[in-house]
Amino acid sequence: MQSRTKAEYSDKEVEALINKEHLRQLLGLELIPSENYVSREVLNAMGSIFTNKYSEGYPGKRYYGGQDNTDAVEQLAIDRAKALFRADHANVQPHSGAPANIAVYQAWLEPGDTVMAMKLDQGGHLTHGQPITSSAKLYNFVRYGMKDVETGEIDYDQMLVVAKKTKPKIILAGFSGYPRTLDYRKFVEIGQQVGAILMADMAHLAGLIAAGELENPLDVGFHIMTSTTHKTLRGPRGGIILSMGEVSNPLKAPSKTINNLPTLIDREVFPGFQGGPHEHTIAAKAVAFYEAAQPEFKLYARQVLANAQILAQELMNNGFKLVTNGTDNHLIQIDMMKSYKIDGRQAQEILDIIGLSANCNAIPNDQLPPYRPSGLRIGTPAITTRGLKEQDMAQIVIWMKEAIRYRNDRKKLNILTKEVQDFAKNFPLPSDL
Ligand SMILES: Cc1ncc(COP(=O)(O)O)c(C=O)c1O
Repeated sequence: MQSRTKAEYSDKEVEALINKEHLRQLLGLELIPSENYVSREVLNAMGSIFTNKYSEGYPGKRYYGGQDNTDAVEQLAIDRAKALFRADHANVQPHSGAPANIAVYQAWLEPGDTVMAMKLDQGGHLTHGQPITSSAKLYNFVRYGMKDVETGEIDYDQMLVVAKKTKPKIILAGFSGYPRTLDYRKFVEIGQQVGAILMADMAHLAGLIAAGELENPLDVGFHIMTSTTHKTLRGPRGGIILSMGEVSNPLKAPSKTINNLPTLIDREVFPGFQGGPHEHTIAAKAVAFYEAAQPEFKLYARQVLANAQILAQELMNNGFKLVTNGTDNHLIQIDMMKSYKIDGRQAQEILDIIGLSANCNAIPNDQLPPYRPSGLRIGTPAITTRGLKEQDMAQIVIWMKEAIRYRNDRKKLNILTKEVQDFAKNFPLPSDL
């Protein structure tokens, strides 16, 4: 089959790889919950000539000339992000989610200070203090986690005990692998009792929050929300930092107060941590924020959640053991060892053969190492963008089950691959429309 990517390159090696990747995306189904497909408009903005421009600083306060259009596009992205998430301030410059989190830590903490974050095997992200990261070398991370892994309920009593003992300066809500709902009000109560600021890393949930389908932590007392822009938010690869407080001149060092968080953060992103912003990506973020404010995006977010409910149910009906026995959001963690006595990496590799992309992931109390963990993480943001609905979830589960059952039968795997491809072709990539 011919790729529909029409762009011609004199560099034939890169052109061939782009076309191959296009076909892989078109003929497969993306189940990795942190991935999505952007619109043609987002893609075009990202590929625009804003990439030619250096614009160190912030709108109206740049270090180089020629900034009329970069100022306007960045201000548009800022205004749209603030409106979408009801934040006092938005910094749209972080190159991705990890730099956004690091900038917040550096804006508020001194080396050796304590941050309280979710246990890593229960869903916390690498940037929430995984020992090999730079943040974990600078700051002291303490943990909260589930009271019961069968329901996923967080042990808030224990969280308070640990917080009183360790006096964190930041309490961080957020995850990349937790399929249940956090009680943000309880986080705020605990933060108030110990004098910590409240930070939400909503990289996974941002699109569902923007659509009004999930609660916005900033509405209930959180001070800061970081996010990637490329997951459920369906924008370019990038990061944002939203905060509450007053914005003052970023050129002047403010005192370290909660009210000054926006300026402290701005100064930490630039010049503290990054150099010139990527205005082409910021233009694409502005487009994504515009799209996320449209009524169709609300329907999309609702469908993501509806699909996840059915997918989880179908999986459980077919012998898959889910961590916390279900999901409240867009992601599902499967205990593959308990389900089919294979590890998560084996499952990922088997599904890859037939064109279903998923990723292996640690699960609570995992007995296996991180590179070959017991869990497999899947989700519905990308397949919902392609247009899949509730009735398609059962078919995905059948393919997963058959691929695992016939994993040593090349002929059967070829048949399954063809079935997935024939199905996927009916759902074009949005950037091809
Ligand atoms: C919760 C969370 N925070 C931060 C990140 C880091 O984002 P990036 O990979 O864009 O740096 C991720 C990425 O998966 C994430 O899930």
